[in-house]
Amino acid sequence: MDAGRYHEHYLLQAGWLAPARHYLFRKAGLARCLRVLDLGCGSGVIAEEMRRLCARPVLAVDRDPEMTSFARSRYPENEYLAGDERLLRKKGMRFDLIVLSFVLMWQERPLSFLNRTRELLAENGALLLLAEPDYGGRVDYPAELDFLKEVFIGPIRSQGGDPFIGRRLSSLLRRAGFSADVELASCLNIPCGDTDEAWAREWRFWQDLSGFSDATLARILRLEKRAIARRERLVLFPVFCALARPGR
Ligand SMILES: C[S@@+](CC[C@H](N)C(=O)[O-])C[C@H]1O[C@@H](n2cnc3c(N)ncnc32)[C@H](O)[C@@H]1O
Repeated sequence: MDAGRYHEHYLLQAGWLAPARHYLFRKAGLARCLRVLDLGCGSGVIAEEMRRLCARPVLAVDRDPEMTSFARSRYPENEYLAGDERLLRKKGMRFDLIVLSFVLMWQERPLSFLNRTRELLAENGALLLLAEPDYGGRVDYPAELDFLKEVFIGPIRSQGGDPFIGRRLSSLLRRAGFSADVELASCLNIPCGDTDEAWAREWRFWQDLSGFSDATLARILRLEKRAIARRERLVLFPVFCALARPGR
């Protein structure tokens, strides 16, 4: 799948989580942070938002060079690097704020990743985890849509991610030597008909990831549309967030 498709998905996700993110940016004092890193920046949506809020370029890093080159072309005012936390460590870089959004869930060894990331923090620096989901806690209503949980869990697992990372967030941060405030960034989502086309594209994105049939896609779209029209549609979906600082 090309970077443009991911970008659309990240934009939709970012829109849905915007209120929590803005609360977290205030809580972390983003505007006062001089050296800000968006690690696992994807198509650069969150880094660009931070640049606008703190009125200075943010360093956006992704291990996938296709993502950094897409992000650079889209949001040229930030700084970009293709690589990971190991590369930044080798370069001796330090940050006042490190931001992760849907990144811990993709680590093969999340504890080691957190340990390495902690070492990139400057004195008094903070780690802000904006969104780490827990698909195991997802409830789709009405009940005929409850199978959707599996539509997400399958492809995340097969691509090496942990769809249940949210419930582990607090203990992982503690074990990695952080003192953290863990909260729910979001739990309740009541889709309405306003963005029908955007949601249809989002379901096609998940179809490409998980390979379910066109018949299943048509079924999802039909059931969801009917539930929205009846004002029955509801999603309970725990997405965790945390502001963490080194020390216990
Ligand atoms: C689900 S995407 C999220 C993108 C972006 N943070 C957002 O919320 O829109 C996760 C991204 O993190 C990148 N990534 C995962 N682990 C990484 C690591 N250790 N260092 C750098 N990038 C990483 C992936 O390549 C992918 O682009």
